[in-house]
Amino acid sequence: MDFFGYKNEKLYAEDVSLHDIAQTHGTPCYVYSKATIERHWLAFDKAAGAHPHLVCYAVKANSNLGVLSVLAKLGSGFDIVSGGELLRVLKAGGDPTKVVFSGVGKTPEEIALGLQHNIKCFNVESPAELERISQVAVAENKVAPISIRVNPDVDAKTHPYISTGLKANKFGIEREQAVDVYRHAASLPNLEIKGIDCHIGSQLTEIAPFVDALDKLLVLIDELAENGITLAHLDVGGGLGVTYKDETPPHPDEYTQAIAQRMQGREDLQLIFEPGRAIMANAGVLLTKVEFLKQGAEKNFAIVDAAMNDLIRPALYSAWQSIIPLDTSLTRDSAVYDVVGPICETGDFIGKERELAIDAGDYLAVRSAGAYGFVMASNYNSRCKAAEIMVDKDQVIVVRERETLEDLWRGESVL
Ligand code: LLP
Repeated sequence: MDFFGYKNEKLYAEDVSLHDIAQTHGTPCYVYSKATIERHWLAFDKAAGAHPHLVCYAVKANSNLGVLSVLAKLGSGFDIVSGGELLRVLKAGGDPTKVVFSGVGKTPEEIALGLQHNIKCFNVESPAELERISQVAVAENKVAPISIRVNPDVDAKTHPYISTGLKANKFGIEREQAVDVYRHAASLPNLEIKGIDCHIGSQLTEIAPFVDALDKLLVLIDELAENGITLAHLDVGGGLGVTYKDETPPHPDEYTQAIAQRMQGREDLQLIFEPGRAIMANAGVLLTKVEFLKQGAEKNFAIVDAAMNDLIRPALYSAWQSIIPLDTSLTRDSAVYDVVGPICETGDFIGKERELAIDAGDYLAVRSAGAYGFVMASNYNSRCKAAEIMVDKDQVIVVRERETLEDLWRGESVL
């Protein structure tokens, strides 16, 4: 559930009219709802119940400092994939001892940064990375806490670009190799084995693949114990899907309880969750203005001021996101439109074949845009990145100013 909805035919975020935000702050612009972010994070945290657990929000889904600070205040942990994300977490007041560091290509500098800030764990993706972490830990005179990311070889049945737990994917270590890698890790003095982790993909709409992956990890945990290697935590990754259109993913409660139930009798093993999309997607919208309506030979186009540089999901994954007017009281003729941006690419669309009752100058909201929205934005076509705004009840807080034209060439030079 989220806190976006119509009141007297005007779309609101909590107690604020989105039309007012569009007029005051301009478009395109992202708007997040603080109450929705909190509600979603707490759903995971509460459903895990008494089982020792930590919800580590996946920063890559939305790394705005305002968003991270809301989660930090709840006591959230964070799943990061770069030194940049670690510094964002710290700036937002996050606790580094609740940070897990994922990603296949951690540099020596990023590893050193993680060690200096005493992060909770490095999620190791390959034997070569294990060596690198060990070497950096020796150089820093530290002991690095590690977990091995195991590839459970489970089909997440999601878009191929966001499926990560198959043998053909670049992530993690094969199950068959895992015990040997753990044994080797145990022999390195500057490493401390803490846990095991996996992440099988994103936008999953069923519980079964998660439970399959968990069961495979539990078998491995028992095998490790027989080898004298005891783990302190089990990190099940992220990946819980959301409703964009007519998907019916399990509610975070249902998903978390299913996982926690499987862990009965293993109370000494802390559970870690890494949700990103399930917390942020429906906690944000992208506001855009209709610039022109254009009738083509075969199609009608609504040319809007948001484009693929602002929201790339439709262009990159053929993703469907709902597009709705901010004001339904206006009298308009209805027609079917392709909603497209001003960028010079045929792939620059936000939605195709949408029935809308609109005119030039009207405002629209693209829903479910809080995750993998602004974070994937670029300056393609020398377009300024959009503003980001947080609504907290009746308060409007600009959490990122719209870029200015001068920002576009900062750091460049003319010969
Ligand atoms: N943990 C790890 C190790 C991950 O790689 C990811 C996402 C997550 C957690 C969070 O997954 P989530 O709960 O958000 O599904 N840009 C794509 C999604 C890429 C996801 C990459 N990894 C999209 O817009 O659909």
